[in-house]
Amino acid sequence: MQVNQRHRKGILLAGGNGTRLHPLTIGISKHLLPVYDKPMIYYSLSLLMLADVREILVITCPKNQSNFQDLLGDGSQWGIELSYTVQDQPNGIAEALVIAEDFLAGSPSCLVLGDNLLYGHNLTSYLKQASAQIEGATILACHVNDPSAFGVVELDENDKPISITEKPANPTSHNAVPGIYFYDENAPAMVSKLVPSSRGELEITDLNRLYLQQGKLDVCLLNRGFAWFDTGTHSSINEASDFIKAIEKRMGLKIGCPEEIAYLKRWVSAETILANVQTNPNSDYNKYLQFMVNQNPDNHQ
Ligand code: DAU
Repeated sequence: MQVNQRHRKGILLAGGNGTRLHPLTIGISKHLLPVYDKPMIYYSLSLLMLADVREILVITCPKNQSNFQDLLGDGSQWGIELSYTVQDQPNGIAEALVIAEDFLAGSPSCLVLGDNLLYGHNLTSYLKQASAQIEGATILACHVNDPSAFGVVELDENDKPISITEKPANPTSHNAVPGIYFYDENAPAMVSKLVPSSRGELEITDLNRLYLQQGKLDVCLLNRGFAWFDTGTHSSINEASDFIKAIEKRMGLKIGCPEEIAYLKRWVSAETILANVQTNPNSDYNKYLQFMVNQNPDNHQ
C-alpha cells in the first residue's frame, strides 16, 4: 500500500478499564464485546475505512492489547495498515493525540472512539466532507434527547459553533458531539496546553474549545436520518444490538463489515475475502461475505 505523508491518519481509541460494565469487562475489553453479530470495534473501524483512512493506530489498555491484535491483525486482510500501542492509564481521550504523535509524524488525523457507532443516509459523504477540511478541526453534531452525558455544542443560526461543553448539567442545545474528530497536524501540540479536568482527564472537549477559540472549529450537523450510539452502558449496548439486528434482518445487508467496505472500495480482491471465508464456511458472517462477493461481481479484480 502506498502511503502519502500528508494523508490523514487514523487513531482508533479503545483503552480505558470499562469499569462501568464490570463484571463483563474484567476478562475482556469493552470494545471486543458483541454489538449484535460483530465485535463493537468493527463499527468504529468501519467509520475510519468509510472516511478513506487506511493507516490506523489502535490504542488499547496494556492488558488487552494481544486480544485486539488477534482479532484485527495487521489489517492487510482489509487493505489497511494497523499498528498498535497502549495507553497506560485512562488519562483522557485527548491524550490519544499525544500518544499518537510519532505515528502521525505531522499528518492530519481522524480520532474515533472505539465504542461509537454511526449509521445513516449519506454517512460516507459526511465523513468525506469532514475529512476534506485540512485546516483546523471538524466535529460532528447529532440531535439527542438528553445531551447531558456528552460533549454538547451550541450553534448559531448558520450552524457555526458558539460554545462547546463537556457533560453540562444544563445543556444549551440538543446537539451532542459523537466520538469522531478530524484534526489538522497541530492537534498533538495543542493537547500539551491542556490541563486535566476535575475528573482528572485530558478532555477532548477542551481541545475542541481551543480550536473554537482560534476560529478553527467546523461542525458538521447530522440530519435526523442518523442513528448514533455510544455503547458505554449495558442498555446502550443492547439498544445498539437491537438496532443493528433490525436493520440487518430487514435489508439482508450488514452494517460495519470491514470486509465489505474494503471489497467495495477495491482495496482487496474477491480471492482475499473468499480465502478467509473458506477457513470457516459455517459462520453466518462468512456466508454473508460469500453472498456479498456474488452480488458485486464487478468488483472482482
Ligand atoms: O461518545 C461520545 C462522547 O465520548 C463525547 O460526546 C464526549 O465529549 C467525550 O468526552 C466522550 O464521553 P464519554 O463519557 O462517553 O467517554 P468515555 O470515558 O466513556 O470514553 C469513551 C471511549 O474512549 C471509550 O471507548 C473508552 C475510551 N477511552 C476513554 C478515556 C477517558 C480511552 O481509551 N482512554 C481514556 O483515557
